[in-house]
Amino acid sequence: MNAFSFYNPVKLIFGKGQLEKVKSELPQYGNKVLVVYGGGSIKKNGLYDEVMNVLKEAELEVFELSGVEPNPRISTARKGIDICKKEGIDSILAVGGGSVIDCAKLISNGAKYDGDAWDIVIRKAVPKDGLPFGTVLTLAATGSEMNAGSVITNEETQEKYGWGSPYSFPKFSILDPTYTLTVPRDQTVYGIVDMMSHIFEQYFHNATNTPVQDRMCEGVLRAVIETAPKLVEDLDNYEYRETILFAGTMGLNNFLQMGYNGDWGTHNVEHAVSAVYDIPHAGGLAILFPEWMRYNVKVNPDRFAQLAVRVFDVDPENKTSEDVAFEGIERLREFWSSIGAPEQLKDYDIDDSKIDLITEKAMARGEFGNFARLKETDVKKILTASL
Ligand code: NZQ
Ligand code: ZN
Repeated sequence: MNAFSFYNPVKLIFGKGQLEKVKSELPQYGNKVLVVYGGGSIKKNGLYDEVMNVLKEAELEVFELSGVEPNPRISTARKGIDICKKEGIDSILAVGGGSVIDCAKLISNGAKYDGDAWDIVIRKAVPKDGLPFGTVLTLAATGSEMNAGSVITNEETQEKYGWGSPYSFPKFSILDPTYTLTVPRDQTVYGIVDMMSHIFEQYFHNATNTPVQDRMCEGVLRAVIETAPKLVEDLDNYEYRETILFAGTMGLNNFLQMGYNGDWGTHNVEHAVSAVYDIPHAGGLAILFPEWMRYNVKVNPDRFAQLAVRVFDVDPENKTSEDVAFEGIERLREFWSSIGAPEQLKDYDIDDSKIDLITEKAMARGEFGNFARLKETDVKKILTASL
């Protein structure tokens, strides 16, 4: 293991009926709250009314920013920041999936910054403070509800980058599986692919002696693999939703990543793909991750073989580590396809015409990947294999 410090100050409030807790959590930060939400799913499923009632009971003055896009845009965050500055907002409540939460994070930090918020995303400016914010999560996927990360798209320059600061942790996050019951099948599948990908990103590292972390990652993956096929056939099942919701949070709240740096290369490539083509984040991951794995088995075949045996039940008898590794990757590909995830970039009508542009975007911050260092030629090969 590497030396590490662990810090996660998010109060996680999980279970049925927990929305009420907004009344005890939010008023301590002041009277004016900006509610941030997406394109209307919370109005359709009634959560908007529930949230507004709770805020009314808490006697808070409510301002609203609606229309946060999947792959949230800098222009929308700027609108939120303007409201915060103009109205003297005290706190933010994000109600939605990862996109809404990520946008709220930038609004929070941007509201305390004098320049343009894009400076924060490109790390030209280091946030010095942020407005306090809480979240009500409606989609199991990103883990954004319990981490400090935020991914923002600049639609004008076709750039999409992650950033984070000590001030971008939610103060609290309310996770009631009930609110995820209306997530449609495709978004449910994307969420499952995303949380599994987060665990893969962490599992592939170069530190030694991580048996506890390995077993934690493998355990969460196995629980997701057991539950996901049942959930996609029974979307109204509360218990399956509950399991997947908890798995998504555990997948990226830093608990699995103590003592090593995960790879995170596939996420970097995917962010470049969805910056250019605006496809769902996990749609891109479902296509790219098996190709990243195939390309990098050679880096440490034993590590891939361990995953194959422990998570995908590959029989290692009389096989080389490489053979076991490739069999495991095949099982992952089959598993994702079986629940309806996309397989190739052409599923999104993406051909080879912009491979160079995507590669350029992925390389914008130089070589990347902590387990497998990727150069321009590597990225191009992975993208080409994904077509
Ligand atoms: O906008 P609305 O109308 O709310 O609809 C959303 C959206 O269309 C809908 N939805 C959400 N909850 C629903 C629902 N529909 C019905 N019922 C509900 N209960 O689902 C659609 C997708 O929502 P979105 O928030 O975009 O999905 P997700 O949570 O997967 O977030 C994706 C974004 O997070 C970033 C991705 O890059 C992408 O921009 N990521 C953030 C991370 C982080 N902060 O730690 C890490 C991830 O790796 C990821 O990169
Ligand atoms: Zn992700």
